[in-house]
Amino acid sequence: MRLVLLGPPGAGKGTQGSHLAVNLGVPRISTGDMLREQQRSGTGIGLRVAELIDAGQLVPDALVVEMIERRLESADCGPGWLLDGFPRTVPQARALEQALGARGERLDLAVLFEVEEEVVVWRLSLRRVCPECGATYHLASHPPRSGGVCDHDDARLVQRPDDGERVIRERLRVYREQTAPVVEFYEGRGQLLRVDASRPADQVAAELVVRLREHAGSVS
Ligand code: AP5
Repeated sequence: MRLVLLGPPGAGKGTQGSHLAVNLGVPRISTGDMLREQQRSGTGIGLRVAELIDAGQLVPDALVVEMIERRLESADCGPGWLLDGFPRTVPQARALEQALGARGERLDLAVLFEVEEEVVVWRLSLRRVCPECGATYHLASHPPRSGGVCDHDDARLVQRPDDGERVIRERLRVYREQTAPVVEFYEGRGQLLRVDASRPADQVAAELVVRLREHAGSVS
């Protein structure tokens, strides 16, 4: 299955995407994770990427499109994939459509996680991540077992630099301006699946599995 996960920052794309990728047996490809990897490389591009991410701005289309096109050619993408955080602009959505068309492939669905902005601010300002394994926690809804350290490897959890309230609000503004039109792009093609992401994560996950099964049944 080939899926795009859409939604504002903090909607739960990473949380749901991680479970779903295991369920479907396909890789979860997160442009945010790939860009943070570049950031750690300390190269000139990495430093520029860091500046943009930390300010809540998008990285230029050309850079992410090339990164994704290369990633989709990997052998593990044969059975399908799940894109988390891409496309984020209409030009990115068009580039993906063209790249798939050139290979005779098609996107199955774009899943939109819908959630109110104030919920997003609460979720992101209390998010903590493990710098070693990337596990994500929430201090209220999904806290680590023992204060401040990762359940898997005991590493001390950190807050992402773009998870401060001022940058969260900028990311939301950028989402409304540049990513909301991507929702219309997929809606116009009859490829959009809306999911109420404001409920607890396990309820969202359960609904998603049912809706994707229904979709698979309706097209087979
Ligand atoms: P990226 O890393 O993709 O960030 P994002 O899209 O802003 O998404 P987040 O990771 O913040 O949130 P999420 O929806 O995954 O939520 P999560 O599951 O973690 O991108 C970062 C930056 O990289 C961008 O700002 C941009 O600069 C750049 N970038 C990336 N892709 C790009 C592209 N295509 N083009 C250009 N630039 C790009 O959940 C959040 C929190 O809530 C967690 O603590 C979680 O535990 C909790 N939670 C999740 N679900 C629930 C629930 N149902 N109930 C209660 N709590 C929940």
